[in-house]
Amino acid sequence: MRRLLIGGNWKMHKGIRETREFAKRLLKKELNISNIDVFVTPPFTSIPAAIEEFAGSRVTIGAQNMFWEEDGAYTGEISPVFLKELGVEWVIIGHSERRRIFGEMDKDLRKKIKMALHSRLKVVICIGETEEEREEKREKEVVEKQLKDSLFGIELDPERISIAYEPLWAIGTGKTAEPTDAEEMHRAIRGLLGEKGEEIRIIYGGSVKPHNAEELLKQDNIDGALIGGSSLDPEVFAEIIEIAGRVSC
Ligand code: PGA
Repeated sequence: MRRLLIGGNWKMHKGIRETREFAKRLLKKELNISNIDVFVTPPFTSIPAAIEEFAGSRVTIGAQNMFWEEDGAYTGEISPVFLKELGVEWVIIGHSERRRIFGEMDKDLRKKIKMALHSRLKVVICIGETEEEREEKREKEVVEKQLKDSLFGIELDPERISIAYEPLWAIGTGKTAEPTDAEEMHRAIRGLLGEKGEEIRIIYGGSVKPHNAEELLKQDNIDGALIGGSSLDPEVFAEIIEIAGRVSC
């Protein structure tokens, strides 16, 4: 049985003060999240504040990126060892903004995934097609290549690896994939994951909001959501968490 996983990707939002405020407001909701997993990924500099505020709760903390070495002459990069030292549990790898804006390639992501697993972090690997690729009906081919190139030769541990399917045209646009289309893609991705496919969580990302979360999360192969915009407001994020809790009952 795959537990639903709800992740909040804050991107470059919320400094320390706002992070503390968010945590206090979310925790005030006294959400029952015993049957799902929840994490938020603040910017690096806000991580210690998030760890402190969420200590003792079931909300865990992730990072939005990391480097593929433990230390060395890599100006501006962050080591997974430093993340572990802070108490970080999750790391998002290969978000489409990292691929598109910072030129990250599948071969780089593969090194990051290997190092994250070596460092005992849990990894959420993002894949997804552009609008053009979907129009050309190449979405499955694109996603298959991303998966193969980034996961090639890596042992798939369902406890440590989750996949986020995030079609680029749905990220931050308010356009969501139709739940049935997303379900079809998730089923196809599961098929590509081989014998561990049934156990690996495949979560959906791209304009997930309280009004569409239930329909998406009810799909058999959608095991949670990676949420950008709607994770920034604690009340809205709480609504989605509540929906996930209900759906997984
Ligand atoms: P969004 O972002 O929910 O704002 O569309 C999702 C993501 O980028 O992970």
